[in-house]
Amino acid sequence: MMLHTALNWRYATKRMNGRRVPDATLERILDAAHLAPSSYGLQPYSIVVVDTPELRERCQPAMYHQPQVVEGSHLLVFATWESIGNAEVDQLMALIAEERGVEPASLESYRHTIAETVARLSTPEARHQWAARQAYLAMGMVLTAAAMERVDATPMEGFDPAALDEVLGLPERGLRSAVVVTLGYRDLETDWLAGLKKVRWPRDRVIVRAE
Ligand SMILES: Cc1cc2nc3c(=O)[nH]c(=O)nc-3n(C[C@H](O)[C@H](O)[C@H](O)COP(=O)(O)O)c2cc1C
Repeated sequence: MMLHTALNWRYATKRMNGRRVPDATLERILDAAHLAPSSYGLQPYSIVVVDTPELRERCQPAMYHQPQVVEGSHLLVFATWESIGNAEVDQLMALIAEERGVEPASLESYRHTIAETVARLSTPEARHQWAARQAYLAMGMVLTAAAMERVDATPMEGFDPAALDEVLGLPERGLRSAVVVTLGYRDLETDWLAGLKKVRWPRDRVIVRAE
């Protein structure tokens, strides 16, 4: 499907029909998320894949009983890293040095710049908010890639993060949920939103030219 056709086709699906997204399709969608850009390339988040019906059922109360949670086939929980500091910056420098075959010393000024940025994120909340901004870019990739695959995807902030984190054991893994995407297939018979016209502000309200 062409990109703009896919973007018009997609919508935040409210009801899904239980059909499972095939593994290969899911992996292609996740590959798009993996390729998302991020500030300094630090990618300070993990995407937790929830794919068993039992676990999705256990997540549903924390997600205010939204039906997609159990009618879809996968939840992708975009969760920020609790720890974003010098250790993670050093790991990234080592990875870049290895992947690009350069001396770690040649990355010193880059390392210093990133370290300064993360040092300014002095509270857990500041780190979470910064990391969440990066995670939302990956979510955008997922929404787009899913639409290209004709898979429905609902972005979701309608959940209790602490309760969801508890169900998924995220604190033990140093993670904190920011946003969720449910993947599945629309149920045309039960979804009141299916087929309704997409509503956006007029284009010239959203896109304005510098004066
Ligand atoms: C960050 C974010 C959080 C959202 N949370 C929910 C949600 O919890 N439940 C839901 O059904 N839709 C949710 N939506 C869907 C929006 O309401 C929807 O994207 C918006 O109305 C535009 O419509 P469209 O995506 O169908 O084109 C969310 C969307 C975004 C981007």
